[in-house]
Amino acid sequence: MLDFEKLADLDNATISAAKACVLDSTSRCLPEFTRSFKYSHSENGFYPKSGNVEWTTGFWTGQLWLCYELFGNESFRKAAEWQVESFYSRIVNRIDVEHHDMGFLYSPSCVAAYKLTKNEVGRKAAILAADNLVSRFQEKGGFIQAWGPLGAKDNYRLIIDCLLNLPLLFWATGETGDKRYEEVAVKHLDTALKYVLRDDDSTYHTYYFDMDTGKPLKGVTAQGNRDGSAWSRGQSWGVYGSALAYRYLKNDEALDVFDRVTGYFLSHLPDDVIPYWDFDFTNPSNEPRDSSALAITVCGMLEASRWMDKEKSENLKRTAGRLFRQLYERCAVKNPDVSDGLLLHGTYARKSEWNTCNNRGVDECNIWGDYYYLEALVRLSKDWDPYW
Ligand code: GLY
Repeated sequence: MLDFEKLADLDNATISAAKACVLDSTSRCLPEFTRSFKYSHSENGFYPKSGNVEWTTGFWTGQLWLCYELFGNESFRKAAEWQVESFYSRIVNRIDVEHHDMGFLYSPSCVAAYKLTKNEVGRKAAILAADNLVSRFQEKGGFIQAWGPLGAKDNYRLIIDCLLNLPLLFWATGETGDKRYEEVAVKHLDTALKYVLRDDDSTYHTYYFDMDTGKPLKGVTAQGNRDGSAWSRGQSWGVYGSALAYRYLKNDEALDVFDRVTGYFLSHLPDDVIPYWDFDFTNPSNEPRDSSALAITVCGMLEASRWMDKEKSENLKRTAGRLFRQLYERCAVKNPDVSDGLLLHGTYARKSEWNTCNNRGVDECNIWGDYYYLEALVRLSKDWDPYW
């Protein structure tokens, strides 16, 4: 097991160097990516342009808002504001919104816009997105259906990633006073935490229910190596998702899940720190890494550290800071000729003998890896009010 005591503490020089790289990279990208979005992942280090489709565009807008907070440049704010209009148009015109990823899309873009600048278009768009998310709740089984037409038997399942979509619902109740959003979030959480967690503290990626009776059926992977393995990014969604559940509910169950899934994640990191894309793999292996999983976990640890007693909180922060330093040293883009992203060595999807994936964004930057790496940096730099 990785010896965390041997990792160097995070220091101010690393934070300053990381900020300088982020400022340089994001500023360079503005001309190309203001009226278009970054694609889900880079190709040979550089992001293709994308329209506002798929589940990932909110992360680029979120990166702009984080840069606005960190550096204060109006150019970041202006670009993010244009993109907020695009998110409003997307939900009103129902462009690629027949899925559950409303939180990934609308929290770092539109909720952020409203929290930071009282942007009313952002508020309206985010509430419409929350309505869309609630409409995917299935009473039989008590969960939000992730993908596919509502009620389709082959998609009657939840996925662990959805934990990050739930803060949008808690926010919507806070904004509107309508308890329905929060009720759906709490029911989904109860179901998800009950079924995705295994006895050894690893997690299933997805879990099926019987659509006639609501009975739990089985855990199945979509992006992991196999049904019984721990997909590293799925585990990290569990880490951050349970920390955010605690932020809203302050219940012991969420904290217990956080301790368990985080313990599993940390104890399965390889000696050279950056996780393989699935915890089936460990050193030595030629399989690719997924740096984004570590960035997400660091954010989850920093969120949870806000709610712990002092000693536990200090320990979590110290470990999260050390892991961030490793991310900076091993994965951060330091030369704009290499990449226009922030964090190298991510993996979107990896084909295996047992899953149905094609290789996609393997050993590349991905836009959520960039976003969560920057969110961690912001959390480590100031007292940050989450967009989640
Ligand atoms: N939420 C989809 C993924 O993590 O790839």
